Amino acid sequence: MEVIESIDQMQQSAELLRSAGNTIALVPTMGFLHPGHLELMRVGSKHADRLIISIFVNPTQFGPGEDFEEYPRDTPGDLEKARKAGADVAFMPRAEEMYKDMHQTKVMVEKLPKRLCGLSRPGHFDGVTTVVAKLFNITKPHLAVFGQKDYQQLAVISRMVMDLNMDIQIVGVPTVREADGLAMSSRNKYLSEAERASALCLKESLDTAQALVEAGEPDTAVIERRIKALILGYPFTDIDYIALCDPITLDPASTIQEETLLALAVRVGKTRLIDNCLLRRD
Ligand code: PAF
Repeated sequence: MEVIESIDQMQQSAELLRSAGNTIALVPTMGFLHPGHLELMRVGSKHADRLIISIFVNPTQFGPGEDFEEYPRDTPGDLEKARKAGADVAFMPRAEEMYKDMHQTKVMVEKLPKRLCGLSRPGHFDGVTTVVAKLFNITKPHLAVFGQKDYQQLAVISRMVMDLNMDIQIVGVPTVREADGLAMSSRNKYLSEAERASALCLKESLDTAQALVEAGEPDTAVIERRIKALILGYPFTDIDYIALCDPITLDPASTIQEETLLALAVRVGKTRLIDNCLLRRD
């Protein structure tokens, strides 16, 4: 596996791979790789001849007071895992090169980022779309793979790709979970043992909501009240949002549709966790 830090060198390597007739899959990550990332890589490898992963803790998607400084990092461990997972290239740019010379361009999707996580993380998705657009221009992929755990991120990136006619296929991969249901996330590392037990309230909420829908409950307000009580019944929890909404527009839904997105953001101690599922009527 080649490790590339320079943007020029990455663009040249990607061009060489393309001109030799290879298709390229990109898995963009912020490192501290876990089995969820490895699943993205497995899917990427399956769909393309060459797999590039990027490891970059992108400063522009963290707000003031968020965990940019503390975000867990493990470069040697990540490179080992990426190598074992069959990545051909690990692209690890430096922030000074990604945002050099008074960088002043942003890629912004207009409406979707104003929903859900965007309400408590203003500017977050502008940071995501900007860095992802840059990574696309640097690594020149035919397809890029993202986890469905970050449902809104996947929706925003898909919108950007569609609106800007980027010739890149976006592939979404189902959430990988621990044996007890907790969605894998680099941020799980922040949880104490007692908080880790409380973090199970997210998956339990998704399961409870699905059971209510299957039992015929049509009213999203009823489901929201049940989930709220369930989450707040666990210690250390604080709800950022419980959203039942249209899976495409992310507009709030008052009644359960054929498919309704349930998305949650819950603080467990100081750690903000997200999870989601598509509620299906039958
Ligand atoms: O999902 C992530 O890890 C990040 O938001 C991404 C897509 C790598 C952009 O920095």
